[in-house]
Amino acid sequence: MQTLNANQVDSTIMEEAGKIIRAGGLVAFPTETVYGLGGDALNPESSKKIYAAKGRPSDNPLIVHISKWESMALICTDIPKEAELLAKTFWPGPLTMIVNKSDSVPYETTGGLDTVAIRMPDHAVALAFIEAAGGYIAAPSANTSGKPSPTLARHVRDDMNGRIEMILDGGEVGIGVESTIVDLTGGTPTILRPGYITKEMLLRVLDEVDSDVTLMRCDTNQAPKAPGMKYRHYAPKGALTLVEGEPDEVVNVVNQKIAEAKERGEKTGILCTDETFAQMKADVVKSAGSREDEHEIARRLYRILREFDEEGVTVIYSESFSREGFGQAVMNRLLKAAGYTVIRE
Ligand code: TXA
Ligand code: MG
Repeated sequence: MQTLNANQVDSTIMEEAGKIIRAGGLVAFPTETVYGLGGDALNPESSKKIYAAKGRPSDNPLIVHISKWESMALICTDIPKEAELLAKTFWPGPLTMIVNKSDSVPYETTGGLDTVAIRMPDHAVALAFIEAAGGYIAAPSANTSGKPSPTLARHVRDDMNGRIEMILDGGEVGIGVESTIVDLTGGTPTILRPGYITKEMLLRVLDEVDSDVTLMRCDTNQAPKAPGMKYRHYAPKGALTLVEGEPDEVVNVVNQKIAEAKERGEKTGILCTDETFAQMKADVVKSAGSREDEHEIARRLYRILREFDEEGVTVIYSESFSREGFGQAVMNRLLKAAGYTVIRE
């Protein structure tokens, strides 16, 4: 594992990382959202290796990471005007755009689709690495398929040890949930995965923005447009249930459910907030931060879900959070982690 300071990126390490990618190997790297598992996006063998290392179904496409706008020309057939507008405002940053792919991008990278997801991350280490590796890095989140995404290099090591050539350690990530994905390939731009860049922020640049109907519910017959969103995901090993309602009610229900689980011999965990922490009773109680600060909650979420695993927790109850703005991204991940198991008070 190579430790790097984002303010002073070591060029020798970058050169080494670049060489590994050019030779068809894999390197994990930090971004502002979560750690990515990088390979050469234009090399079909590298993409196959990424799927194998993650244990990921091969119909679930990868995101191509670039370090400069000019790189778009090689990988998409036409650049929609919305892409240009969005890039000016949000790149580098936590926004992924779906456009039509060119022949340079192998189907192994796009999971067989004629479209490609592209993003320019806002992280000095990521940008230097992409540059050193030739400009096109295919990277999913660097977790074993189905597990919470890594927000620390240690998480990557836990999941990927021995399966990849190098891990670049840039410390804890800043945002903690994956990028917003916007589809620009047909009609109204559509959010396929919510993230730090909210619909409201996109509407400052675009006239119209839709959201995929499957984002916050499982009771539709439609398949999500981002293939990855159909899988149970971001999930700890313990059985997770969300509880929605007034804070006092939620505390009562959670404590009651936990008491029942304890009687069955389960090791219990609660994911709560600073406001309710003192009232919660379980073997392991963890606060994600203040209810007022959804950015802090997002930053801590995956780490806490992994800690429940590390501590052998078998049953977890969690508070719910606001579904407005960036809160929608947090709730989208929690709902998937819980397999949509929700108690509404
Ligand atoms: O923040 C992020 O986006 C992180 C960091 C590493 O950049 N990456 C990430 O990648 O979250 P991954 O592979 O875990 O999630 C990519 C998502 C999947 O849900 C996938 O189905 C969707 O993007 N996706 C990729 N290409 C697509 C395409 N052409 N059409 C629709 N969805 C696509
Ligand atoms: Mg992922």
